[in-house]
Amino acid sequence: MRRFTTLPWSLCSMGLCCLAGCQGGVQTSPADERTAFVDSVLSALSLEDKAGEMTQLTLDMVCVGKPYHLEEPHRIDTSKLKKAIVDLRVGSILNCGGHAYSPTKWHDFIGTIQTAAATKESQLPVLYGIDAIHGATYTSGAVLGPQQIGLAATWDTALVRKFAENAAKEVRASGIPWNFSPVLDVGRDARWPRLWETFGESPKLASDMGVAMVKGYQEGPSPIAATLKHYVGYSRPLTGKDRTPAWIPERQLRQYFLPPFAAAIEAGAMSVMVNSGEMNGIPVHADSFVLRDILRDDLGFEGMVVTDWEDIKYLYSRHKVAEDYKDAIVMAIDAGIDMSMVPTDYKFPVLLAELVREGRISEARLDESVRRILGLKYDLGLFEDGGMPPALADYPEKSGLEGSAARAALESITVLKNEGQHAIYPDQPILPIGGNGKILVTGPTANSLNALNGGWTGTWQGDDPAYNTPGRPTAVEAMSEVFGANRIDFHEVGMDMTQEDIDQIVAHAAHTRPQCAVVFLGEMPYTEFKGNIEDIELFENQQELAQALKATGTQVIGVYVGGRPRTLAETDAILDAFVMAYLPGDYGARAIADVLSGDFNPSGRLPITWPRYASAHLTHDRKHTENDSISNSEALWRPLYPFGHGLSYSEVSTTGLEILNGDTAVMGDVLDIKVTLENGGNRSTTETVILYSQDHVASITPAVDELKAFKQVVVPAGSTLEVELAVSTEDLGFIGRENKYIVEPGKFSFRVQNQTDEFLLVP
Ligand code: BGC
Repeated sequence: MRRFTTLPWSLCSMGLCCLAGCQGGVQTSPADERTAFVDSVLSALSLEDKAGEMTQLTLDMVCVGKPYHLEEPHRIDTSKLKKAIVDLRVGSILNCGGHAYSPTKWHDFIGTIQTAAATKESQLPVLYGIDAIHGATYTSGAVLGPQQIGLAATWDTALVRKFAENAAKEVRASGIPWNFSPVLDVGRDARWPRLWETFGESPKLASDMGVAMVKGYQEGPSPIAATLKHYVGYSRPLTGKDRTPAWIPERQLRQYFLPPFAAAIEAGAMSVMVNSGEMNGIPVHADSFVLRDILRDDLGFEGMVVTDWEDIKYLYSRHKVAEDYKDAIVMAIDAGIDMSMVPTDYKFPVLLAELVREGRISEARLDESVRRILGLKYDLGLFEDGGMPPALADYPEKSGLEGSAARAALESITVLKNEGQHAIYPDQPILPIGGNGKILVTGPTANSLNALNGGWTGTWQGDDPAYNTPGRPTAVEAMSEVFGANRIDFHEVGMDMTQEDIDQIVAHAAHTRPQCAVVFLGEMPYTEFKGNIEDIELFENQQELAQALKATGTQVIGVYVGGRPRTLAETDAILDAFVMAYLPGDYGARAIADVLSGDFNPSGRLPITWPRYASAHLTHDRKHTENDSISNSEALWRPLYPFGHGLSYSEVSTTGLEILNGDTAVMGDVLDIKVTLENGGNRSTTETVILYSQDHVASITPAVDELKAFKQVVVPAGSTLEVELAVSTEDLGFIGRENKYIVEPGKFSFRVQNQTDEFLLVP
């Protein structure tokens, strides 16, 4: 491993020996040491060094072959590497060349890149970044857990933190110190193809989960830098399609979309990636109000801001707000970008330096960004080891990491409906599947590990089985393990299943009369624009399969494997049970089987409202005019399943909600709210108490319900528990007409299930 004791910016040569582990040295605070170090390194850099530091290229640009079409086996092209790292002084590389690599291969790549970096004049190490969004997605054999939408469904922030901490161990052990995760876009539109990358529709749940994930990545034993993306306003485009215009007034931006970013910045997140799209007609990469006034001044973010993929170029090539590349660079730098994810041309650093020489950008402006980039490299310890990967022998044991991924998969599985009468035990519902009869298993997601994992798994789209970890079971394989292979009667179909395929399976069911059928519905993986849809209704052939099976008199359990809820009201109506599995990852198959068998008592709760109709994208925090109809006809709020919904095999009833402070509160008070839970079943169960607030009258139309607090407790079989939750009156506010957060006095209430209590808030 290289040690930097003789380099121009060596810690010892600067008198900052404490950090380098020497004896003695000046007595300075860590913050002062960091500033002194960064300033000193910066002062020795040339204009070209600085422009290079602000440049990020994709790995393809230093490999043999063309970008997106590398020659196999992927390998470094030494002349391209020299050009990028030594001549152009590129400060950051990202991504894999198209698919996952073994830890050894990662070490080769990163070791070679850092060795080249050490030969340039500044010797600055390269900052490597990756999308390890549900585990080390591009390291073969890595432990892959649920995607974020599933993590949110656990409502278990401690578990999510642990999962992120474990993911960081494998990412860092692969030699990579910087992760492009978590996604803190609030997922309020099920059509959006990146919904599964979010923590769902609630700003509060996304904030709590985001903080947990950032702390897991950054504060564990093997820390990596988190990136909050995609700042901000990406997730609610009008068309529902990726990177299409969003119209989000400042008030709504602050109310619904900024809170998770604010919370994660407060928790110390080290970097932010910018939204690729436009908001209110302004591409966010060119919006200094969003990138400076809000991010820096209001949220106090001091870390590094990286663009998304090719987004500076898009300012002229797609958004048409800049004349040419140089114009676009000036715009983005003015707006507040620190690093450009170029990532497939060599021109950016050359043009950036040229713009400084021409006086269109000041060198002081470059210093501002380079200071942040060097600060991030410093915080990640890259100056201590030159960014070299740790010893391969220290790669963590999988057995120590699998627990949190498998547990998160289990806790995410959400039973939405369990109404059918059990075929063998008529006094029980259809789930858990007991008995010993045959179980007919079918549906396009039943035998696909890729369907369970979703995008960013082995490859960007996550759809190539060649990069799956051998030995991880598909849903039908796990069902065979759990129920016994002799009980499983599997009928494989693809997404393209025909009427003939359906007819055959249905005829077989009519003939054999299985105990029940489990139909695996859903979507195959997609990422970004490839997941755009014209119609949110679930594919007709899947619905036909479930309905035709039911028509034979077979009991049908639907299991949905997919990252966004698609409408399927008619099919839902005939299902005896319906289970949402989200994208539960490599351990998801076993989790599904354990829930179906009853080995695990389900505790997942929906982090998003499941729409009943294609045009009804409503959320739990909808307005009253979205709730009730003006006429006396059908209510507007008729979700198929509401946010927070989820059943267990032991019904817990909630009674006696009481605000312990009484019926009046003074501004600033913290309110304690008590509820009583009673587990009337015969199994211990984990209950998530979800508390909503209602502001009765407000100067901005109040929401029907707003998530304010949640708490998970284990309620033993047959027992009664009292649970207390706390809410500060300061959290009962909203963004007012002046676009500022305000709390207005007046009447409020809290609700858990059907229990409510109200109080008066006085100044
Ligand atoms: C995505 C980002 C991702 C980046 C780097 C972009 O296309 O929008 O989420 O981090 O690529 O892979």
